[in-house]
Amino acid sequence: MEESSKRFYITTPIYYVNAEPHLGHAYSTVVADVQARFRRLMGCETFFLTGTDEHGDKIVQAAEKRGMTPKEYVDSVSAMFRAAWEPLGISYDHFVRTTDQSHVSTVQAILQKTYDKGDIVFREYKGLYCFGCERFYIERELVDGKCPDHGTPPVELKEENYFFLMSRYQEWLVDHIEANPQFIQPKRYRNEVLSFLREPLEDLCISRPKARLTWGITLPFDENFVTYVWYDALINYLSALGYPDGERFHRFWPVAHHVIAKDILKPHGIYWPTMLRSLGLEPYRELRVHGYWQMRDMKMSKSIGNVVRPHDLVERFGADATRYCLMREMAFGLDAGFSEESFVTRINADLANDLGNLFSRTLTMVSKYRGGRVPSPGTPAGVVEELRNATLEMVGRWREEMADFAVHRAMESVWQVLNMANKVIDTTQPWALARDEARADELDGVLYTLLEHLRITAIAVSPVMPATAEKMLNALGLDPGGELSIEAAEAWSRLEPGAEVARIPSLFPRIEVDRREKGDGRKVAQGKGVKRQDGKGTAVAKEQGKDKDGGEISIEDFMKVELRIAEIVKAEKHPNADRLLVLTVRCPEERSVVAGLAKDFQPEELVGRQVVFVANLKPAKLRGVKSEGMVLVAKDGEGLKLTTVDGKVTPGAKVS
Ligand code: MSP
Repeated sequence: MEESSKRFYITTPIYYVNAEPHLGHAYSTVVADVQARFRRLMGCETFFLTGTDEHGDKIVQAAEKRGMTPKEYVDSVSAMFRAAWEPLGISYDHFVRTTDQSHVSTVQAILQKTYDKGDIVFREYKGLYCFGCERFYIERELVDGKCPDHGTPPVELKEENYFFLMSRYQEWLVDHIEANPQFIQPKRYRNEVLSFLREPLEDLCISRPKARLTWGITLPFDENFVTYVWYDALINYLSALGYPDGERFHRFWPVAHHVIAKDILKPHGIYWPTMLRSLGLEPYRELRVHGYWQMRDMKMSKSIGNVVRPHDLVERFGADATRYCLMREMAFGLDAGFSEESFVTRINADLANDLGNLFSRTLTMVSKYRGGRVPSPGTPAGVVEELRNATLEMVGRWREEMADFAVHRAMESVWQVLNMANKVIDTTQPWALARDEARADELDGVLYTLLEHLRITAIAVSPVMPATAEKMLNALGLDPGGELSIEAAEAWSRLEPGAEVARIPSLFPRIEVDRREKGDGRKVAQGKGVKRQDGKGTAVAKEQGKDKDGGEISIEDFMKVELRIAEIVKAEKHPNADRLLVLTVRCPEERSVVAGLAKDFQPEELVGRQVVFVANLKPAKLRGVKSEGMVLVAKDGEGLKLTTVDGKVTPGAKVS
């Protein structure tokens, strides 16, 4: 391996402190965190940087509004960003602030160096200035004569200022982008920058007279001016590494990867590489550009006022589920619409059902049939062998997709095999194998393969859901510290036969939606909305089954009911109630159900019957006996009839 490919430097934009953190900021930060965790898992020495951008007009205005000094204000909002990242599980190595003294002195040293080189000059400038963006616009960048971001006409401004001679590096930049296809990705953004570079580049105004703005870094060669915020901000990527002499700078600058959204493509795709070139530095290695989270087709942003706070999502869904949805619901590079409903659906389907059920079913079976110990590998054949092969093949695809920032696709690959594992349980029917001594080896093979599949799945989801991965590996009796490596993901048979595995409660509680509200995502921002079903929710869970709007329910509501075929394997009288029977049903795992059938059926006539069964009902205790579901019956003048099926089906089969 090339020396530098063992290292990885990843950054997020440094966020303006004129607004509190919202989902858009959280997305970029989670993308960077997932990469950092993935690269660590790959054995790379990784440095992950995030931080806050604290100079400029907007900050002064925001501070004034709150009756604070700019310094008091930036301290408080910067702290909010740091506080937002912790509950989201963000593992940054350094948090940079542009008001840090070390950053200020690096910016001044770079300005001086660029000035001494002759790349910064003093000139009169007349141009169209947008106060919202804090930048001059050229005519062709405007839309109907207005700022494309703020929709307001820019103001004509004439002043003397310092300019960075960016145009000197235009030709070099075009050549660099053309020679290095990975430099700006995805391709559409690379093309956008190249198309901008087809026209002659204007030089970049990098100062603001102190008469207009004082909250900034003073130019080292003219104390009447402060530095333009972008010139100041971009340098954070170097100052945080201790440029020019820091050891970190030498180690990590050659492997710099910046994550941004498309709103700040131009400063990163054009200003920054030319600034670096002027300093005689290699440009960053990759710029990874993503799209916008939108609400009702508009970019989520503070100025529009349609933001979702990451804190609210974490409160409702937990950090891992929030991270998973962010990664899965947006294809990197494209815009995505936010809706709370799509998050709920995703969590219930992918996490509670597919992953959570597979995990608990497998551990339950290992506990029941093998005394809670890893069985011998057995001799996997047929679908079981296919599952092993598919799992190992998946790791190869996952690795490439993760490295390419296509986390949504990497998770899709993991889920394809996860679903295969769930089907393997249905087809091999371990409960049937368990009843036949002669098939013990077959059962070992199924259980061992499922456990190994889950071990590898835990590693594959760990960059996105670190706490869940840890829980899974711990339950499998492994040390997460030692197990989170690409070597472990690519190897089979790491679980030692005889080692103990745990039985743990479900990984993800199902999320119940408050049906009194319409799901357009706004409710998260307003601090209402979905409630968790694990006891953390409020009164809403009690309203399950009632329809407030009267009569009709939507197809989405209906789809929430998980109907399956259950086979009754045992039936007896309830110890404390004449009307009730206690059934054991197979669906496909065994559950206990209390049913009001005693008047209409003798227990023995129910055994062996297959019925339609509500499988996702919240467990309850009925007269002291646990009930985990509901058997459906039909009722007419002659009493109750079972809702049986036409012919035999596999217990647990879905009714749709
Ligand atoms: N301070 C500058 C960046 C300087 S970097 C040297 C800035 N700050 S910002 O607070 O406005 O953050 C912009 C970034 O926040 C976007 O590039 C993106 O990473 C993230 N997002 C903000 N809103 C977003 C969406 N609605 N959707 C996706 N990401 C968004 O620009």
